[in-house]
Amino acid sequence: MSVRIGVFDSGLGGLSVLHDALQMLPGASFVYYADQDHVPYGEKTDDELRGYVRESLSFLIDAGVDAIVIACNTATTVATKGFRSTLPVPVVGMEPAVKLAIDSGMGAIGRILVAATPVTVAGDKLHVLLGHVDLAHEVDLVALPGLVRFAERGVFEAPEVLGYLAGEFGALDLGAYSAIVLGCTHFDYFRMAIRSCFGEPPRFFNGNAGTIRQLVRKLRAAGLPCGLEEDIGPLCLSDGVGFHERVTCYSSGRLLDGRQMALVSRCMEQLDRVGRLCRTEAVR
Ligand code: DGL
Repeated sequence: MSVRIGVFDSGLGGLSVLHDALQMLPGASFVYYADQDHVPYGEKTDDELRGYVRESLSFLIDAGVDAIVIACNTATTVATKGFRSTLPVPVVGMEPAVKLAIDSGMGAIGRILVAATPVTVAGDKLHVLLGHVDLAHEVDLVALPGLVRFAERGVFEAPEVLGYLAGEFGALDLGAYSAIVLGCTHFDYFRMAIRSCFGEPPRFFNGNAGTIRQLVRKLRAAGLPCGLEEDIGPLCLSDGVGFHERVTCYSSGRLLDGRQMALVSRCMEQLDRVGRLCRTEAVR
């Protein structure tokens, strides 16, 4: 029987992690849980978030998943390691891929801009991480909560998105940046829109592949199969992705209806598209 992974986000952003997991773990099946009754998380209090995260993870555990990916940087700021270790299945969280961007040496070419939600930008977790890895002070932060709302509507490159970005980037010297860290899983949809604001295209970094690798390590440590090709024998990835056979989707505990699934399909298509046109640097 294939391993069953729960993937949790406040909304449709975690589909960007699921998109990569479907390819990296061809033998796994997934339960995707979007807490859309409470999106956006990036503008809620820590106490509110703790309640939403508990409820969502309990649902996934009751649904019988073998492990959970918190595909949300904002939820991870409140779902601490201590809390995660009380749960009966392995749980992996996410944080902005700042170290990956710094280690890539992009800081020698220009500054690094981390885009995330207001909760992540203000949170201790990110500032502690920066204290450890941003020794040369080459990283700046920007909160882009409006992108979460656009993503939930399936609006990715419309003039209103470009207008919003121009407003938010207005105070920054964009020519100074060589790299963007997508520190919110909802932001992957906007790689093209973000790139269009820059003269020289920046390199994009996200934490998706690193998070999936961490999941594999945790599954192995728990003696569980991880859905890697070596577990199931070689297969052709393009034939093996099979979204509808491999993924069950819920919105705050309710199965997605046809209209919502159509939006999920559009999101997956947008991720294919931005992936082709605008590569994200990943830990492989
Ligand atoms: N996708 C989430 C993240 O990675 C949060 C978006 C939101 O609900 O504000 O931070």
